[in-house]
Amino acid sequence: MKGIILAGGNATRLRPLTKITSKQLLPVYNKPMIFYPIETLTKAGIEDILIIIAPDYAGQFLNLLGSGKEFGARFTYEIQEEPKGLADAFRIGENFIGKDNVALILGDNIFDFDFATVVSSFESGALNFVKKVKDPERYGVVEFDKDMKVISIEEKPRDPKSNYASVGFYVYDNKVVNIVKSLQPSARGELEINGNPSVNNTYLEKKELKVSIIEGAWHDAGTFDSLLEANNYWAMKARGNV
Ligand code: DAU
Repeated sequence: MKGIILAGGNATRLRPLTKITSKQLLPVYNKPMIFYPIETLTKAGIEDILIIIAPDYAGQFLNLLGSGKEFGARFTYEIQEEPKGLADAFRIGENFIGKDNVALILGDNIFDFDFATVVSSFESGALNFVKKVKDPERYGVVEFDKDMKVISIEEKPRDPKSNYASVGFYVYDNKVVNIVKSLQPSARGELEINGNPSVNNTYLEKKELKVSIIEGAWHDAGTFDSLLEANNYWAMKARGNV
């Protein structure tokens, strides 16, 4: 299994914090944000990692992260010229992925959860993860039945069909590379993971999309409040308070 960290984008929601640096380099308690997704992948046994970054601060990522040796990993870097959508990661990563399966993690998603078992037992299709939230309209929303069979996935719907948010960690078989090649951009002009059309909806049509509920904490640190919450969570964790 290869791993991709998507750490580009403009992060306009975090201006002026992101005026002179990238969101994924901002501190979350005692380390830069991107350390968390790196550690999530390496703990899951994924050591071959492609880091996709925006052109503006590419040098800062290289200075900070280097070859990956310090993390017990091998890093490859690619530039995403413009934020064309989350699924663009599989177009940019085609050569890196080769014939392997691939896990994608969003660079601003911070998990206190160990994906090792799910990653090592993955065989084929697509595997997504969800978590119950109070504000599902902020996220991709997954509707599923009592047997965990997925019924629908919508990106930031006005009337969410469930309270389960799609978290930013996704596992796919090698078919994802070809799926993205024929994927059309959505109405907002992005290659989508969860929208319409999207990678996940393509796997859903093929009846090859599975979801699993994650235990443990999850933060999408893309807004001031969620960034503060993530900082507080990891500070409390360091003191043994969560
Ligand atoms: O956090 C989970 C949510 O992440 C999911 O529930 C949503 O379905 C998914 O679309 C995504 O929503 P966001 O609104 O959080 O996406 P955002 O545009 O903030 O992008 C997520 C990360 O990916 C962020 O670190 C920036 C990076 N990114 C984004 C895009 C669109 C890129 O590197 N390149 C891109 O083209």
